[in-house]
Amino acid sequence: MKGILLAGGSGTRLYPLTQAVSKQLLPVYNKPMVYYPLSVLMLGGIRDILLISSPRHLPLFHTLFGDGSHLGISLSYAEQPHPGGIAQALTIGADHMGADPVTLVLGDNIFHGPGFSHLLRSRLSQVDGAVLFGYEVSDPRRYGVGEVAADGRLVSIEEKPAEPRSSLALTGLYAYSNDVIDIAKNLRPSPRGELEITDVNRAYLEQGRAQLVNLGRGFAWLDTGTHDSLLQAAHYVQVLEQRQGVRIACLEEIAYRMGFITADQCRELAYGLRHTSYGQYLLDIIE
Ligand code: DAU
Repeated sequence: MKGILLAGGSGTRLYPLTQAVSKQLLPVYNKPMVYYPLSVLMLGGIRDILLISSPRHLPLFHTLFGDGSHLGISLSYAEQPHPGGIAQALTIGADHMGADPVTLVLGDNIFHGPGFSHLLRSRLSQVDGAVLFGYEVSDPRRYGVGEVAADGRLVSIEEKPAEPRSSLALTGLYAYSNDVIDIAKNLRPSPRGELEITDVNRAYLEQGRAQLVNLGRGFAWLDTGTHDSLLQAAHYVQVLEQRQGVRIACLEEIAYRMGFITADQCRELAYGLRHTSYGQYLLDIIE
């Protein structure tokens, strides 16, 4: 399974915050936003990851993560010249995928909940078609929306419907088998001129090969699309981290716990950060 992390777009809805910097590098409490979706891929056991962003911002991600080897992963980078739609990540990433299936995550999506790592690893281990992750929200009109029949089957998918058929939002986490490359290459651009991820998902739905995993009530899928939701996401992370004394999306910790790096390697990373609470946390874990 390969990973793609899409962190481009123009971020205009958050202007002036994102006029000079990438949205996905904005802080969410104590880490850059992109840490959270990268942690999702790592928790799913994915180590070969392509990060896609705009030509202007791509070098910043490279500065942050390099080749990923310090985290025991392999990170490569590709440009999306213009925001041509989320599904364009699948054509840009075709060479990266080779003959493998792929998990695509949007760089502004934050997931947190019990058993997530286990859920990911079991759902990503056998993907035939599309595996989509749904979450009940109070305002589904802002998202892709899935409609589920009484027997749990997904029966329709719509992008930002004015009159949603359900309150189940489709999150920005998608797993596909390798034939997604052909589906993405044959997509017609939407009236906005974009390759829509919803059209990819609908193609699988029509083939009877789209599965939905409902993340359920005890789970947090946080939005960072507005100034308010960005602040709420930061508060969520702050409250949980302070209450429980654990860090959410601490990449070095995840790399260590997943066995991507050894205790010694993790200690070395922590030592470099020892003057920060982040580094102290890592040192405590190792000891
Ligand atoms: O967050 C989940 C939602 O993401 C889904 O429910 C929707 O079905 C899906 O279309 C998408 O909706 P958004 O309104 O959030 O899409 P947006 O255009 O804002 O793009 C989402 C992220 O992807 C954003 O951080 C920017 C990045 N992006 C987007 C486009 C269109 C790119 O990197 N390149 C692009 O071309």
